[in-house]
Amino acid sequence: MTSEAKPKIILDCDPGVDDAIAIITASRWSEIVGITSVSGNVGIEHTTSNALKMKTLLGINAPLHSGASKPMKAEPFHASHVHGQTGLGDTDLPEPNSLPDSDDAVAFILEKTREEEGIHLVPIGPLTNIAQAIETDPSLVDRVASITLMGGGAGVGNVTPAAEFNIFADPEAADVVFRSGAQLHMLGLNLTHQVLMGSEHADYCYELNSTVGKTAGDLLSFNGRTHGTEKETNLGAMHDPCAVLAVTHPELFVSKPRSVVVELEGSFTRGQTLVDEREWLETEKNCNVYYEVNSEKVIELILQSVTEASPNG
Ligand code: BDR
Ligand code: CA
Repeated sequence: MTSEAKPKIILDCDPGVDDAIAIITASRWSEIVGITSVSGNVGIEHTTSNALKMKTLLGINAPLHSGASKPMKAEPFHASHVHGQTGLGDTDLPEPNSLPDSDDAVAFILEKTREEEGIHLVPIGPLTNIAQAIETDPSLVDRVASITLMGGGAGVGNVTPAAEFNIFADPEAADVVFRSGAQLHMLGLNLTHQVLMGSEHADYCYELNSTVGKTAGDLLSFNGRTHGTEKETNLGAMHDPCAVLAVTHPELFVSKPRSVVVELEGSFTRGQTLVDEREWLETEKNCNVYYEVNSEKVIELILQSVTEASPNG
């Protein structure tokens, strides 16, 4: 793929162990035109600082704008038990030596997508920034190439039996996004649980003997130990890079157009993405739901991005 052919993305993230791997992946396979941070796995001060650390590590030139410090209506909900107290597991990257370009992620998303056509929004945290941007200017959805998100799923949750973390953390924001009319692509848990990484992949990264390799190794090893669906084999689902690679390598995925709503009320199901799989009904389809992935190739691409992303060692 030539550099001209790389899809342009704004990565909206809450690093987050798998978000950090997604940043490495995006820096290799996409043209990152901006990074925005959102409160999610940890508080906004940490997700912003972690995104800055990754930007410095990888020599990414794109601007970084911090965003929402809390969900639209819900009480803040974090996952430091999964990502570590400050969000990047047990990595030891230096404190960032730069500041965010602004604290107005919404203004950046709106302005950047007015300046340039064909940008994909890739949210891999709670959807607060994206929903606020849509509420401020609903025509946003017509000028982006897609909103390709990691969140939700068809039939499985992680925070609760029904709800996945990114949707559960801000269901009202997710509701805005799913009803927005955007070209919406959902990489949910039913898909990301097929992409498992852990100690074996960490060892590959450590053997690269680079700072990026060491950081990726620490992240993958932490992910395998704490974020796993298969702890006995030290493998954990590698969620967020899937959304990046669905944009850059769509041929590796199988999706189906579905009608999807976000449950806001249910006492057991708040935050669920309810996917209508009754294919015999002529319902309006608002979302491409992802079902199948070439996991081996996806993992290969993630590791290749670690191998080749070493501008600063
Ligand atoms: C999602 O929640 C977060 O903990 C991860 O970073 C990922 O975006 C998985 O449910
Ligand atoms: Ca995330």
